[in-house]
Amino acid sequence: MQPCSELEQARIAVIDDEAVACREIRRAMEKAGCRVETFSDGESALKQMARTPFDLVLCDLRLPGMDGLEVLEGVKARAPETEVILMTAYSSIDTAVRAIQSGAFHYATKPLNMKELCNLSMRAMEKVRLTREKEALERALFPRHHQMELIGHSRQMQEIRGLIRKVSHLNCNVLIQGQSGTGKELVARALHFQGLRRDNPFISFNCGSFTEELCANELFGHERGAFTGANETQIGLIESAHRGTIFLDEIGAMPMAMQIKLLRFVQERTLIRVGGVKPIPVDVRLIAASNQDLKEAVAKKKFRQDLYYRLNVVVISLPPLRERKTDIPLLIRHFLSKYNRVFGKRIRDVDPEAMEILVHYPFPGNVRELENIIERAVALGDHETIRSTDLPPDLQKLSISSADIDDWPSLEEREREYIRQVLLKTHHHKTAAAEILKIPRTTLWRKIKRYGLE
Ligand SMILES: Nc1ncnc2c1ncn2[C@@H]1O[C@H](COP(=O)(O)OP(=O)(O)OP(=O)(O)O)[C@@H](O)[C@H]1O
Ligand SMILES: [Mg+2]
Repeated sequence: MQPCSELEQARIAVIDDEAVACREIRRAMEKAGCRVETFSDGESALKQMARTPFDLVLCDLRLPGMDGLEVLEGVKARAPETEVILMTAYSSIDTAVRAIQSGAFHYATKPLNMKELCNLSMRAMEKVRLTREKEALERALFPRHHQMELIGHSRQMQEIRGLIRKVSHLNCNVLIQGQSGTGKELVARALHFQGLRRDNPFISFNCGSFTEELCANELFGHERGAFTGANETQIGLIESAHRGTIFLDEIGAMPMAMQIKLLRFVQERTLIRVGGVKPIPVDVRLIAASNQDLKEAVAKKKFRQDLYYRLNVVVISLPPLRERKTDIPLLIRHFLSKYNRVFGKRIRDVDPEAMEILVHYPFPGNVRELENIIERAVALGDHETIRSTDLPPDLQKLSISSADIDDWPSLEEREREYIRQVLLKTHHHKTAAAEILKIPRTTLWRKIKRYGLE
């Protein structure tokens, strides 16, 4: 096989518990100009993947610990664009076929034919290269589409993406609910830009920042002479969004009087400009968002029930980030590449200690908070990886470094100390001490002996 110059930098991970197989594959792949790392189990390969991404993973199906299918799942969760080829004995071809259905590129049967394996690998890496090229092209050609990419591999995010795909081509009203920073606006944009209205305007309006009069003026526009200073007729945001989408953000904060006017528009699809009399038909898709529970607002009479029922034809609920922690590493990679581009840096990854902190942090500000943390870390970071010291001081405090762990007493040390204090307090009266400790006298005896407290 000819070495392929474009693939010279291609990185391959070979996972096989048979050292001979690893050696043979390495030799063949290196001859083809690839960089190869070998692993005897899936766990260590995935650990390494967190540091350096691979283009292709060649993995034996039967492995000690994680099996090939679990490795495939792990690889796809970390780097969906990485291709995986599973290697299997003839007898388990059924499983290999299932693997392809779960996202593997292909399978190779054992005993391996090196030439075939190399050809298969080249095809897989060609696919990786094409996917990357396509992504780069899309980024250059449609920056606004790319900015709307909803990252996340969790079950919840997959369901949300499915829902967006289903309803983006329909004209129904959509209500997006979720805490601040969970991605409501991103979902609204995705609905618009993936739908038939994508070439028409997407206009966003924050209902919480205006009084009723200003709200009506902004959304419906006004006729000339409608009020002092209205020297010209001005069309409102809804009319400007004709054939496109109007996104009403923080709808729960819309003044009550304005809610009636909006309801009329939602029902009739015509509006009357402030100071006007003529109903004007407008074709817009309506998407609303709220970070408060609108049903609760209805119960408290803060939001009109009739408007609520009109808006929530389809509801998309975005879970807080802490309820889909598996998305955190993917989001981190996404924001790393975004801010590397912004700041012209080449930070490759987040080191294990910083990752540990980030995965366990509850993120009250959700994805926006995570994005700000990564932006800050990329802007300030001086190393190849983000370290815990690049995180905001509040998060650094959450780090349990190995030095701290060494300082912490063990449970036994604590128990010994506590028993010693109780014995001191009771002047070594065993029955009284056992009563305080709520353990049988015999157990106390054993512990006294064990800890040398006689
Ligand atoms: N799933 C996601 N993938 C990638 N980026 C995301 C995701 N979710 C949120 N973001 C990013 O997080 C930031 C906040 O998202 P967005 O503005 O959509 O949140 P929001 O729910 O509208 O917040 P708020 O209620 O405060 O207005 C944006 O920069 C957005 O691009
Ligand atoms: Mg928002």
